[in-house]
Amino acid sequence: MEYIFPDFDKIVSRKEKEQRLKQKSKVIWFTGLSGSGKTTLATALERFLFTQGFLSQMLDGDNIRSGINSSLGFSKEDRIENIRRIAEISKLLINSGLICICAFVSPTEETRKIVRDIVGKDDFLEIFVSTPIDVCESRDTKGLYRKARAYEIKDFTGINAPFEIPQNAILSIDTTDKSVDECLKTLVNRLLSEISY
Ligand code: ADX
Repeated sequence: MEYIFPDFDKIVSRKEKEQRLKQKSKVIWFTGLSGSGKTTLATALERFLFTQGFLSQMLDGDNIRSGINSSLGFSKEDRIENIRRIAEISKLLINSGLICICAFVSPTEETRKIVRDIVGKDDFLEIFVSTPIDVCESRDTKGLYRKARAYEIKDFTGINAPFEIPQNAILSIDTTDKSVDECLKTLVNRLLSEISY
């Protein structure tokens, strides 16, 4: 029988895709409490990068949980599985040359380590949206803090489930009293060199 060599030279590599897109594909991962501003910053960042010619895909808690992870809740185990699956999706996205912008509470060091291990530390840029809980609670954009205080939601991060301060973030941003544009400037200053080809 003829020995079949794998066609490595025919597979379009991540590097070729990055070259085509003129960018370095990375996972930009926002972690922080509900209402801290993760999705707002991720959305603003994606829009800005798009205007500058970068191509990215955004993933966030509410859209992933309504689709691929709709069977998962907020127990410790389900949060780990939620984040593990998202990390695998992120890996696929960066292998296709895209910048993957993620906004997930990812409340524990364990969950963030799962992402770092799956994605690889050189491709994982962790950003802590450090807005304090009293500010997040006063915003209460989705009315979830009120429900958590009324015992209508259990295991709510920051109220009756833990949030551990990230130890490996490359940047912390507290959105209290800051405009989206101000935060965006800070983000872009830190990230542009990481994603530029
Ligand atoms: S994670 O902990 O598994 O990383 P994820 O980011 O996917 O959470 O989802 C968080 C979003 O789900 C919050 O922004 C909020 O809208 C909603 N949510 C509903 N229940 C909870 C809860 N018990 N704890 C945290 N967020 C919750």
